[in-house]
Amino acid sequence: MSSEKAPCVLILGARSDIARPLARIYAEDGYDVILAARKAATLAADAEDVRIRSGQETKVSEFDVIDTDSHRRFIDSLGELPDIVISLVGLMTPQVEAQVDFSAADLMIRTNYLGLVSVLGELANRMERRGSGTIIGVSSVAGDRGRASNYIYGSAKAGFTAFLSGLRNRLSSKGITVITFKPGFIRTRMTEGLDLPGPLTAEPDEVAQAIRRAHKKGRLIAYHRPIWRLIMRIICTLPERIFIRTKF
Ligand SMILES: NC(=O)c1ccc[n+]([C@@H]2O[C@H](COP(=O)([O-])OP(=O)(O)OC[C@H]3O[C@@H](n4cnc5c(N)ncnc54)[C@H](OP(=O)(O)O)[C@@H]3O)[C@@H](O)[C@H]2O)c1
Repeated sequence: MSSEKAPCVLILGARSDIARPLARIYAEDGYDVILAARKAATLAADAEDVRIRSGQETKVSEFDVIDTDSHRRFIDSLGELPDIVISLVGLMTPQVEAQVDFSAADLMIRTNYLGLVSVLGELANRMERRGSGTIIGVSSVAGDRGRASNYIYGSAKAGFTAFLSGLRNRLSSKGITVITFKPGFIRTRMTEGLDLPGPLTAEPDEVAQAIRRAHKKGRLIAYHRPIWRLIMRIICTLPERIFIRTKF
């Protein structure tokens, strides 16, 4: 048996429905796994299940993306700096609520953007000092162009996408890979109760596999499903005077 330490993947927002299959896939590929989330203790059974099935080390860690004061402590508490960080953190409050209640908008922006700038920024700086690492940020097609139905969430995701782009631009020559993963609709807790278009809606397992595939193939920006790249290209090239009359 090799005594070499396995590489480690840190999953932020690990109570997402995508996290369990993602943890399993990475563990099967030989990674130790850290599941970081609010109420992390609720993930202990999942972590143990992954450990038993794969033989890899797993652990859970308490993490709140909006508690930015705690982020350095959180990273210190991990012991070793992970090789890969994947953010599944996200919050989508209905637009109609957020446009009349600034506190709801504020929370969405802090969760989807500001908090991630803090924690991923610090992880990136430490990876830069080490000279290696991969950061995978799950953003959204909603960040590609602001739409009436979802523009507060979308604008936070747009900020996050731009942040990842800048981080990639800054660190690509320093041994750090930054991947922006942009899904369309996924059937998860976030979209529960929404009327999703069946053929365009992905399952969490499928998305977890696509994240791993994007990582293995060294993609820098990946849409899921790939049809979303075409859809968003069309949406983004619509002239503004036509776009303002659309409702989707
Ligand atoms: N579902 C979709 O159609 C869709 C489409 C495009 C992109 N996405 C993105 O995909 C990612 C995964 O989302 P999902 O669909 O799996 O939804 P989800 O189940 O709601 O997962 C989002 C996760 O973010 C975590 N989170 C929220 N606020 C947090 C905080 N303050 N600190 C730490 N974690 C926090 C939630 O933790 P708790 O469990 O503690 O609430 C939850 O586990 C998100 O980035 C989302 O924006 C989703």
